[in-house]
Amino acid sequence: MLGDKKVVYSAVQPTGCITLGNFLGAINNWLKMQDDYVNIFAIADLHALTVRQNPAEYRKRAMSFFAQYLACGLDPQKSILYFQSHVHQHAELAWILNCFTYVGEMSRMTQFKDKSAKHAENINMGLLDYPVLMAADILLYQSDFVPVGIDQKQHLEISRDVAIRFNNLYSPTFTVPEPFFGKQGTKIFSLQDPTQKMSKSDPDPNGYINLIDDPDTIVKKFRRAVTDCDGRVIYSEDKPGVSNLLTILATVTDRTVADVEKDFVGKGYAELKNEVADAVVERLRPIREQYDRLINDKEYLVSVYKEGAESASRIAQRTLNKVYRKVGLVER
Ligand code: TYM
Repeated sequence: MLGDKKVVYSAVQPTGCITLGNFLGAINNWLKMQDDYVNIFAIADLHALTVRQNPAEYRKRAMSFFAQYLACGLDPQKSILYFQSHVHQHAELAWILNCFTYVGEMSRMTQFKDKSAKHAENINMGLLDYPVLMAADILLYQSDFVPVGIDQKQHLEISRDVAIRFNNLYSPTFTVPEPFFGKQGTKIFSLQDPTQKMSKSDPDPNGYINLIDDPDTIVKKFRRAVTDCDGRVIYSEDKPGVSNLLTILATVTDRTVADVEKDFVGKGYAELKNEVADAVVERLRPIREQYDRLINDKEYLVSVYKEGAESASRIAQRTLNKVYRKVGLVER
């Protein structure tokens, strides 16, 4: 809680591009929460350093992601928007929390295991420590709700565990955060391999929709989407491709899958693909147009992220002061 309002916190790592999966699983829910909470949304640019980045490209991509936040409709009047690296308290709290997190807990994390397998040449400490920095992000702001996709569930659990552990050892210090999942769209799958999640670092661009893809590209990607050969448009576990397209259509249009399914009685995959493509094109059109404008307005972007970092830092410092005092550090 901050004042009389509950706090919503979330972030995206600036790797690859912002995908339709990130949008439907996370950002779209942030937009819906903006009016009712204290909202804090970061670009998690320290997290993404756990894999090697080309510095010039990285800087550019982080700015592009920030502009996309605004283009999606995140409103600096309603939400604090900032870069994680601009608020030094994140790294400081992460250090303290490191001392309350066990190596065993970290090495059991699914994402750590997956990423270590993928980047066997660079299994760095940051990769292992990633969930602790994420816990610091969330706990610094006394966050009540963390709207994320289902793939972040385990990280949320560890954030809760660390908060509870610290609160029990000292006295109530951190709000114990709840994950927030949308009713659907919490896991969008790749268009090319619908058994895998849609991933922003997929080397095959046909597997994902980039939020700022142009309409032709979006249509082509959906036309190429992998389905199956039985021809029936129904949601079913043994039809992952078709089910994924139905989920995307339902989530983008704010309807239920069951409702959307009814529209396709007697219709085939071509119709399904066309309708999903059209719905996604229309949902993303204003975002892309707004993005094209914003990305050229550097001055505005800088003013928003500077103000965001100042507001975030003020809140974060209050928590950090409390933590430093509780663990027994001498007051400055
Ligand atoms: P990241 O950057 O991988 O993903 C950003 C958000 O998108 C969700 N998501 C998906 N949702 C549905 N379908 C998909 N295919 C899909 N792929 C990704 C993710 O669940 C996430 O909500 N560690 C985080 C970033 C982070 C963070 C935080 C999140 C850093 N600090 C504090 C919440 C709170 C990450 O890598 O997300």
